[in-house]
Amino acid sequence: MYRTHNCGELRMEHVGVEVRLSGWVARNRNKGFLCFVDLRDRYGITQLTFNEQKNAKLLEQATSLGREFVITATGIVRERESKNPNHSTGDIEIEVSELIILNAAKVPPFIIEDETDGGDDIRMQYRYLDLRRNVVRKNLELRHNLAQEVRKYLDSKGFLEVETPVLIKSTPEGARDFVVPSRMNPGQFYALPQSPQTFKQLLMVSGFDRYFQIVKCFRDEDLRADRQPEFTQIDCEMGFVVREDVIQTFEGLTKHLFHKVLNLELGEIPRITYAEAMEKYGSDKPDIRFEMQFCDLSNIVKGCGFSVFDNAESVLAINVNGAADYTRKQLDELTEFVKKPQIGASGLIYCRCESDGNLKSSVDKFYDSQQLQKWAEACSSKPGDLILVLAGNTAKTRKQLCELRLEMGRKLGLRDPFNFKALWVVDFPLLEQDEETGNWHAMHHPFTSPLLEDLELMNSNPGAVRADAYDLVINGVEIGGGSIRIHNRELQEKMFSLLGFTPESAKAQFGFLMNAFEFGAPPHGGIAFGFDRLCSMFGGSETIRDYIAFPKNNAGRDVMIDAPAALDGAQLKELGIELK
Ligand code: AMO
Repeated sequence: MYRTHNCGELRMEHVGVEVRLSGWVARNRNKGFLCFVDLRDRYGITQLTFNEQKNAKLLEQATSLGREFVITATGIVRERESKNPNHSTGDIEIEVSELIILNAAKVPPFIIEDETDGGDDIRMQYRYLDLRRNVVRKNLELRHNLAQEVRKYLDSKGFLEVETPVLIKSTPEGARDFVVPSRMNPGQFYALPQSPQTFKQLLMVSGFDRYFQIVKCFRDEDLRADRQPEFTQIDCEMGFVVREDVIQTFEGLTKHLFHKVLNLELGEIPRITYAEAMEKYGSDKPDIRFEMQFCDLSNIVKGCGFSVFDNAESVLAINVNGAADYTRKQLDELTEFVKKPQIGASGLIYCRCESDGNLKSSVDKFYDSQQLQKWAEACSSKPGDLILVLAGNTAKTRKQLCELRLEMGRKLGLRDPFNFKALWVVDFPLLEQDEETGNWHAMHHPFTSPLLEDLELMNSNPGAVRADAYDLVINGVEIGGGSIRIHNRELQEKMFSLLGFTPESAKAQFGFLMNAFEFGAPPHGGIAFGFDRLCSMFGGSETIRDYIAFPKNNAGRDVMIDAPAALDGAQLKELGIELK
C-alpha cells in the first residue's frame, strides 16, 4: 500500500495518527541534526521531518533525497512548532519512521514551483514536469470542471453526446486542412475535420434533434495566443429551431458555467448587429468592458484645408476619459503605436480638452477653437479628456482605431480579465469578397442560411445579404460562433454557385449533404464554442496553450515528442507517397 492519505489532506485532527504518504520531493532542507522534506502530490504539500535523536540512519537517508525523487514515507502526524499558513497542511508535519525510495530522479531542468526559472521552450520540452506545477495543474482542473459542467447542463437539456469521425473529407471552415494519406487507397487522402459541421447537420437529418460533442478540431492556420492547430470545440446542433432558440439555450449554458465554475452571475447578454459593432468599435468582437465608442467626425472636419481629413473616406475618433494630461512623449508613443506595420496608420491627430475648457489640437493650424468645440461635442468630451483621431479608408481606419481603443483600454486598466462582459454579435454578412480576385467567400461557412428577408439580394447584391449567424463574444474574444443552416438543396446549390463551385465540383465535395437534404431535412441550427478559449478566459489568461495539457508551439510543433517528423522510405512507399 502506497498511501493512507494524500499530501493535501492532513490537518490538526489527524495529530497522533500513523499515516503513509507517497509523492515527489519538492524541497529538502537539511539542518544537520534535522531534515525537512516537502512532499508533493497533486493535492498539496506535506512536510516530513527527520530527527537525528529519533533515528540517525533515517536522517542520513533523508538528506540524500534529491528533488523530484519519488518516495513513500510512514510516520506519525505531529503539530508543528512553527506553522505555515501558506499550505493547507501547514499546521502539521509527519515525524517519519520509515522511508522508501520508489524511484530516484535526475535534477529537473527547471524549478518545479509556481515561480519557475524555466523558459517556454524548456517547459514545453519537459511538459510532464511542467504539469507538476500547481499553476499549470490548476488550469487543467479548471478545464475539467468546465467540461463536467458543460456535460451536465447540456445533458439536462436533452442533448445527446455523439462522436463523429476524425478521418473525413474536407469541411471548409476557412483554414487549410491537415491531411492523412490512405494506405489502402493509394494517392487518396483523408482530411482531419476543421469542425464536425457537416456531420452534425446530418445528425439533424437523422432526427437526433439536440446533439453535442466536446471534440477535437484541426486547422492548418497561422498560430496566435488564442489559436492552436488542434483545439477543442463544444460543438452543438439543434433541430426545429430559429436563431432565438439557439441563443437562449447557449446563453443559458454560458450563465450556468459562470455561475457554477466562477460563482459569478453574468446577467442578460446584450446583442449588437455586425454593422453596429463595426461602426462603434471597428471590430466584430468588441471588448465592451469599457465604452470609448467611435465618433464619426467626417462631416465636421472636412473643408478646412487639412488634406489628410479632406481626402479621407472617414475621419473617426475616440474620446479617452481623463487623458488630457498625456505628455508629448506619451502622445508620440501612441503615434508610433498606430504607425506600426501591423496597424498601419499614417499618423495620429489629437485634441486635448484641458481642464480650463481650452481645446488644444495637433492641427491647430487648420482648426480654431470653435471648430474644435464641434469635435468635442461630437465626442461628448469633457474637460480633462483626450480626443484621438484617425483618418483614411473606412474599413482600414476602423481597424486601426479599434487597435488604438484596445491599447488605451489596456493602458488605463479598463481590461480587467476577471470583469466579464459578454455580448452576442448578430446579422453578419453572409459573404465577403476577396479584394484581389473579387471572389466571394462564406464569412462563416457555406452552410449558413441567409436571413430570409435578404434572400432576394442573393442575385442582385450578394455582398449586402445578411446571414442568420451569431457569435458569442466575451471581453473582446470570439468564444463561439454559429448559425441557422440552409436545409434545402436548391438554396445550398445556389450558395455553392455564388462561392464559385461548379455544379459538378459542389456535387463531388458536398453531394452527400445535398442528397441528405432531399430525404426530409428539418430546419436546424447550432453553435460551437472554442473550449480552450473558454478555459483560458475563465482562468483570466489570453493564452490557450496554458490550458491544454500537451500543446503545440508557435511553429505548430510538439517539441516534447518532436512532431511533426519525417517518415522513413518504406513507410512512405507503403503510403504511395514519393518525396522529390
Ligand atoms: P468557428 O470556425 O467560428 O465555427 O469556430 C468556433 C469557435 O472555435 C474557436 N476556434 C479556435 N480555438 C482555438 N484555436 C483555433 N485555431 C480556433 N479556431 C476556432 C473559436 C470559434 O468561435 N462549425 C462552426 C460552428 C457552427 O456553425 O456551429 C465553426 O467551427 O472560439
